[in-house]
Amino acid sequence: MDATHLRVGVLGCGNVGGALVRLLVVDRERIAARTGTRLEVGAVAVRSLARDRDVPVPEGRLTTDAAAVVVDPEIDIVVELMGGIEPARTLILAALKAGKPVVTANKELIANCGAELWEAAANAGVDLLFEAAVAGGIPLIRPLRESLAGEHIRRVMGIVNGTTNFILSKMSDGGASYHDALAEAQSLGYAERDPTADVEGFDAAAKAAIIANVAFGARVVAGDVYREGISGITEIDIAVARRLGYVIKLLAIVEQPDSDVGPVGVRVHPTMIPATHPLAAVRDSYNAVFVEGDAVGDLMLHGRGAGGMPTASAVLGDLLDACHNLGIGAAGRSVALREVPLRPIDDVRSAYYLNLVVADRPGVLRAVAEVFANHSVSVRSMEQEGAESEASGADLGARLVFITHRAVERDVQACLSDLHHLDVVREIGSLIRVIGAA
Ligand code: HSE
Repeated sequence: MDATHLRVGVLGCGNVGGALVRLLVVDRERIAARTGTRLEVGAVAVRSLARDRDVPVPEGRLTTDAAAVVVDPEIDIVVELMGGIEPARTLILAALKAGKPVVTANKELIANCGAELWEAAANAGVDLLFEAAVAGGIPLIRPLRESLAGEHIRRVMGIVNGTTNFILSKMSDGGASYHDALAEAQSLGYAERDPTADVEGFDAAAKAAIIANVAFGARVVAGDVYREGISGITEIDIAVARRLGYVIKLLAIVEQPDSDVGPVGVRVHPTMIPATHPLAAVRDSYNAVFVEGDAVGDLMLHGRGAGGMPTASAVLGDLLDACHNLGIGAAGRSVALREVPLRPIDDVRSAYYLNLVVADRPGVLRAVAEVFANHSVSVRSMEQEGAESEASGADLGARLVFITHRAVERDVQACLSDLHHLDVVREIGSLIRVIGAA
């Protein structure tokens, strides 16, 4: 094998696959001049040859036989951009067994089967790289695995889903309703017709699991991640947050606050963060990941978390890394996982925002405050909005907005349960975790 001239087998030619093939073909000379590696598109496996594609696939390189590509001796390295678990998993395992390094952008596969695939890569002595699986074009996996390999990372907080960040930005900056913002995200192609994976946090949860693997070595899969989406966030929550100096973001949070061997918390939920926090300035469909480490302090990586070209850029970086390693007959550092206790959401300590609609008459505030006191939840601030008694004296209710001091989730949930049973409480609105002081 001539490691300065390698043939790439690409599985999948959709948005990212097409962009990668374009980069490999159009930028071939520039890439070769910069890196000393000439990458040739050896095969592109697709589902159907009949589909029209605006992609410069070299003559005769399209095929529908992905299984043949991964064992073809003419192919040196495989890029999997099909998505989904199967057949991607089987094809990657076959490629690794045949001694070929693999690059993938498949977050669903890595978040569910990462351990099996990393073990197969280690056994074969080749690379399995996946920079593009989390936050698209943002270099995140390599900084976490390599630059911060010796760092004691305390917490990683990421805006890792562009669709939900777009929706929340439209609600915060443009005053849009959730439904109007979602419709705009769909018309721009950010959100799918069925937006569940994005708006209910499944996409972010898969990425959180991968961050837990890489930053903490924790054996976590997507299903282990506590998850809440943004579909319950109202215009009232957004407006109150702004007035109090906060912004609401859907965050993937992975933390190990106690010690290197303490429990790891992995969760995705809407979060109120101070408007001055660097993540608050991340708008529209951008992604960003904020890392807090003992020695390095705070750092943030920001950029395009999706889209053909940004994601293909991350894949290309992995490809060149794998080519370099092939050339020296080595594989890069593998992901080493260990069993780490997971912190259940009930044990999380956080400040909370809660809004309630209550009857507007004497003694109501005392009854509500008693519930908080009974569960050792301390109120940091409370405001009453729109005490609305008509001239006629009819009680239209009042909205109470609480921010608590840091409390244990289990106690806050117990408060909610008691509030449900209080006859003066007419409506319980959103409960949103608050990070940092405004
Ligand atoms: N749908 C994702 C997003 C991109 O909106 O960021 C793919 O993970």
